[in-house]
Amino acid sequence: MLKNRSIISIADLSDEDINEIFTEADKMLENLNSGQKMNDMESRILATLFYEPSTRTRLSFESAMQRLGGSVISMADSKTSSTSKGETLADTVRIVESYSDIIVIRHPLEGAALLASKFSSKPVINAGDGSGEHPTQTLIDLYTIRKESGSIDGKTITIIGDLKYGRTVHSLLSALARYRVNVNLVSPESLALPKHVYNEIKGRLKVNVSTDLEPFLAQTDILYVTRIQKERFTDKNEYARLIGSYKITGREADMLPSGAIIMHPLPRVDEISPEVDNREPAKYFRQAYYGVPVRMALISMIAGE
Ligand code: CP
Repeated sequence: MLKNRSIISIADLSDEDINEIFTEADKMLENLNSGQKMNDMESRILATLFYEPSTRTRLSFESAMQRLGGSVISMADSKTSSTSKGETLADTVRIVESYSDIIVIRHPLEGAALLASKFSSKPVINAGDGSGEHPTQTLIDLYTIRKESGSIDGKTITIIGDLKYGRTVHSLLSALARYRVNVNLVSPESLALPKHVYNEIKGRLKVNVSTDLEPFLAQTDILYVTRIQKERFTDKNEYARLIGSYKITGREADMLPSGAIIMHPLPRVDEISPEVDNREPAKYFRQAYYGVPVRMALISMIAGE
């Protein structure tokens, strides 16, 4: 049961929780597709506190709440809030919890969502804490694999990009370690997976590590592409050196086996060429769409009656 629980890490969710969320998300998707009006969250308020930019996460949480008949209050930009006057995160959360029933927070510092949860009697959902985690993105990623690839077990998943700073990758790998999957990790050497994440999954997953994508393509069922996280670099010259070090074009898409899918948590910069967008394997826009039913399920299970 998720009622009144905060979700800070994907580890906060049991296998049973995840399966229940997917069952509920299927119902939400069906209701969305049939135009069914929902009022599960009538008279409830969701607060979004975003200290970092977002398009998908904030807007899909807000859309999800409104689709459920609830209301939203939003701090979309910390510069226009009292944070700019020096108010602490703890004080902001103490106030916002008194204005709302559930809080969704994104912050540039790892651990900020956990800290926020300590100062709130209302459930807090981590919408990304620095290079730490992005657990609800992982729910969407797993849901997309199930919907678009049939199942998670038995698949070979190749993850390419910024494995060091990419929080979606950290949460996703932690979740994938619960399934019977093979994982290929491809990145420039300086953007390799942090040791603590590698240590968590090693022994639980069959993992190959490389800087070269091509040898893996023919055996890949799911190609999960990520952006180089420009905002995490202290040395902008290092970012300039790494940007463009890998790119998925029609050529790479053609090397995937039939039935393979390409995913990306988005936003993308130039790591997937637009020529791939209309090809059969491209599922990243669909993946972003699934953000609404998955977050509807989560909100209603956590903060519903
Ligand atoms: N996937 C994701 O977190 O996108 P946004 O940064 O636009 O929220």
